[in-house]
This record gives sequence, C-alpha cells and structure tokens, in this order.
Amino acid sequence: MQILQPTDEALNRAARILKDGGVVVMPTETVYGLACSALNPEAVRRVYEIKGRPSANPLIVHISEFTQLKAVAESWPKEAEILAKRFWPGPLTLVLPKKAKVPDETTGGLDTVAVRVPDHAIALELIKRSGLPLAAPSANLFMGLSPTRAKDVDEAILVDVEMVLDGGPCLIGVESTVLDLSEEHPRILRPGGVSRADIQAALGRQLGELPPPHLRKSPGMHPRHYAPRAKVVLVKRIDDEAAGLTLSTPTHELQIQMPLDARAYAAGLYSGMRRLDVLGVEEIQVQLPPSTPEWEAVWDRLQKASHPA
Ligand code: TXA
Ligand code: MG
Repeated sequence: MQILQPTDEALNRAARILKDGGVVVMPTETVYGLACSALNPEAVRRVYEIKGRPSANPLIVHISEFTQLKAVAESWPKEAEILAKRFWPGPLTLVLPKKAKVPDETTGGLDTVAVRVPDHAIALELIKRSGLPLAAPSANLFMGLSPTRAKDVDEAILVDVEMVLDGGPCLIGVESTVLDLSEEHPRILRPGGVSRADIQAALGRQLGELPPPHLRKSPGMHPRHYAPRAKVVLVKRIDDEAAGLTLSTPTHELQIQMPLDARAYAAGLYSGMRRLDVLGVEEIQVQLPPSTPEWEAVWDRLQKASHPA
C-alpha cells in the first residue's frame, strides 16, 4: 500500500472509500488511526480483523464538531458541553449513552459510545467529506505500539487497508484521555493527552478513581499494551551499555535522551521505543520518569509496555 500525501484529490478518494465501507489509515494529533464508518458494522468488523483485536473491545468514534454528537450519543450531561468547549478539538474522548443506530460492533456491545473531535486538519476533512462519524482505533496490531508517523504503520496493516494518508508526525504522541461521563461521577478510564488536572480544573471537581482491573467496564484495557517487540524494563537509571530511553546524558549510541517535560516526553515515547525496536535490540531499559501527576499518561503506557506478554 502506497502512503499518499493528503492532496485534495487523495482526500476525496479517501472519503469515497469510507462511504463505500472501506478502511483508511488517517493521522490524528494523538496517533494514527485505522478509520472506517462508525455506522457500518461490516466495515467495523474488518477493522477488528485487520488489527487482530477482540471484538468486545470498543472503538472511539471521531466527529468533526460538537453538533455532530447528536448523531451518535443519545444524551449528554452538562459536563460534556463544558469539556468539549474547553478541549475539543483535542485528545479527550467522552463516553456517553449511545444512539441506537450506532452498531454493537462499534461499541463492543456496550450501551455507551466513546466520542472525540480530533485536532488534526486531515482527520477533520475526512469526517466532513465523508459525512460520517469515523470509528478509528489506533493503527497498530493488537497490543503493539501505536504509530505516530505514517511510515511506522506496520506492514501487516498496510497490506490490508485501502489507503494510508500521511499527515506528518503526531504532535501529542500518546492516545486520547478516555473519560466516562455515562455515570454519576466522571472517571478517567484511560489517561492520555489531556491531563487529569486540566479536566478537574475545567469541571471544578475531583474525578472518581479507576476501579480495580477486574471490575473495569472499559474492555480492552489489557495489562500488556502499547508494547514494542523488545522487552521493556523500567529502571531507576539505565546501565551504561544498555539500549534504552534515558533522562540523563546518554552513555551509549543505543540510548535516546528523553525530555524532562511530560508532554514532550509523551510525544517522543512511541517513536523512541520503535526506533530501538527497528534496530533489533532485545531489551529496552527505560529510566523511570518523575511520579508527579502530569506524568500519569506516560506512566500508564510504560507500565503496560513493560507488562510481561
Ligand atoms: O487517541 C486516540 O484515542 C486514538 C486516535 C486514533 O483517536 N484512538 C485510540 O483508539 O486509541 P483505541 O481503539 O486504540 O482505544 C480506544 C479506547 C479503549 O481503551 C477502549 O476500551 C475505550 O477507548 N473505549 C471505547 N469505547 C468505550 C466505551 N463505550 N466505554 C468505555 N471505554 C471505551
Ligand atoms: Mg490502541
């Protein structure tokens, strides 16, 4: 599959493919997504097949503006409006009661739907030109590293899709924050591009805590996830001769110096691990970042990446 620049013509072709039930790899500000019509059960089934992902694992639906929410969500609380105003377009996904016409395939059989407006011109164009809400999981194989550049999309995915659009590197670099608004107390189901502190500030209240894994209603939150091929080991300080991601001055050519700013770190995390993976290292040592709240999404990804297979 050829990777295309997002020309006007390519965008029109991609929109046509989506309307016809096809699958397109599209850029977003977080990671690349494997997009299809959120309203077409067959197209969604194909996305699961391409990813090798269990079908009880719900997808995120991408819309181009707040008013499109009524196409997929049955209702929403006041908090949804406040958060959308503050963070959309952007890396915040809201879980809301779903409209009946959203197929079970898209929501993994749940009665809720996860929705966001991506902050990426190409994704927004595709939604507008196709006239469809687009379901798009990250464009990685199940449990693997999400691609943050078009050329990082796995060959096994490239061969199965109708088109790949190159939108350059993803600026956020980790997936969106998933916030459950379908129950009384808003709760973060997956930390991500928008921090807990920013959501709490916008709502003027504390967010509920995540329930223990076996009681979570967000399926697909497997302990191992976002993982490169290499074994990931979290350490206080990486060995002088080891390959890895360090916060100090590298002592070896297979060491990547990561930024001490949490957002900048997140933006380079997957591409950094991928770079070492491509070089064929067996083990990636990762120096633990600070444990302050702004690092929550990075910690989540590091813990999942280092979880035994
Ligand atoms: O940044 C992102 O969110 C990227 C880009 C492409 O938008 N997408 C993404 O999708 O990360 P995916 O499918 O890899 O992750 C979706 C997450 C899963 O953890 C899933 O459990 C949760 O969203 N989710 C989706 N629908 C849900 C629902 N109805 N209730 C609870 N959790 C849901
Ligand atoms: Mg994913």
